[in-house]
Amino acid sequence: MDLNGKVAVVTGAGRGIGRAIAEKMAEYGARVVVADLAVDAVVRVAEDLTQDGHEAEAIAVDVTRASSVDRMVRGTVARFGQVDILVNNAGVIAAPGWEDRNRPNDRDWDVIYSVNVKGVAKTTDAAVRRMRQRQYGKIVNIASVAGRQGAPGNPPYNVSKAGVISLTQAYAQELASDNINVNAICPGLLWTPMWERIARRTIRLDESMGRISPRRAFERIVGERIPLGREQTPEDIGNLAVFLASDLAENITGQAINVNGGSRMD
Ligand SMILES: NC(=O)c1ccc[n+]([C@@H]2O[C@H](COP(=O)([O-])OP(=O)(O)OC[C@H]3O[C@@H](n4cnc5c(N)ncnc54)[C@H](O)[C@@H]3O)[C@@H](O)[C@H]2O)c1
Repeated sequence: MDLNGKVAVVTGAGRGIGRAIAEKMAEYGARVVVADLAVDAVVRVAEDLTQDGHEAEAIAVDVTRASSVDRMVRGTVARFGQVDILVNNAGVIAAPGWEDRNRPNDRDWDVIYSVNVKGVAKTTDAAVRRMRQRQYGKIVNIASVAGRQGAPGNPPYNVSKAGVISLTQAYAQELASDNINVNAICPGLLWTPMWERIARRTIRLDESMGRISPRRAFERIVGERIPLGREQTPEDIGNLAVFLASDLAENITGQAINVNGGSRMD
């Protein structure tokens, strides 16, 4: 896999899966823009990448605001001259305080929809304006196993990730004639700050968990749900994102690919 000469923008790159995707893109030769609401975090990521000999730029972005994503794309072009790869990774599990609620509320629905669905569409629209000019682009959306199968507990999140898969197919059809590939990755269970929140809520709602740490609860769930018997890692997602962003994947578009240790096979 070779991303030399390519410029990649990764949203939600301040931590977790987004950070690992940015690191993998850089490792395979891309110049990388790391963008996040958490600006201090992406500044650190960019510094670390630069120290390791890569070219990276940190840009603050709120994917729910069109003006902010436009600024991110303009900033990318100003620094690196082009946008070849966009990874729509920024996402939320719910609004603040969700861990203490038994059911998601209206705020959860609104926040999840505006970041996970409309955020992907807004960011894609902004990047595509540049990609079309060069008749080249690779877009990778981070969906979820939750978008394949409804589950109890957080319906707005399931709906949002089903929405990401649907957006992926819609944009793939719309953009194929501009030589822009659009694919999604459906991660399974990864230990990130997002899963720590899920584990804390699960312990509170599920008495059978007993008094157990969030990490231990996560490991128990991995043991129950994952045929391969191990958690997936942000690096796993980064590897597939690099492949989908590379020219090795030039005839793959409109797909949603599982990285879930076999928890779902469709
Ligand atoms: N962790 C998992 O097991 C898992 C599984 C399936 C899918 N996913 C998806 O992978 C993606 C990354 O998840 P993660 O586990 O690394 O989450 P995380 O919460 O650890 O990191 C998410 C990042 O997105 C950023 N972000 C949130 N809202 C933003 C906004 N409006 N604009 C810009 N940045 C924003 C946050 O600041 C944070 O840095 C998400 O889309 C998530 O839904 C995660």
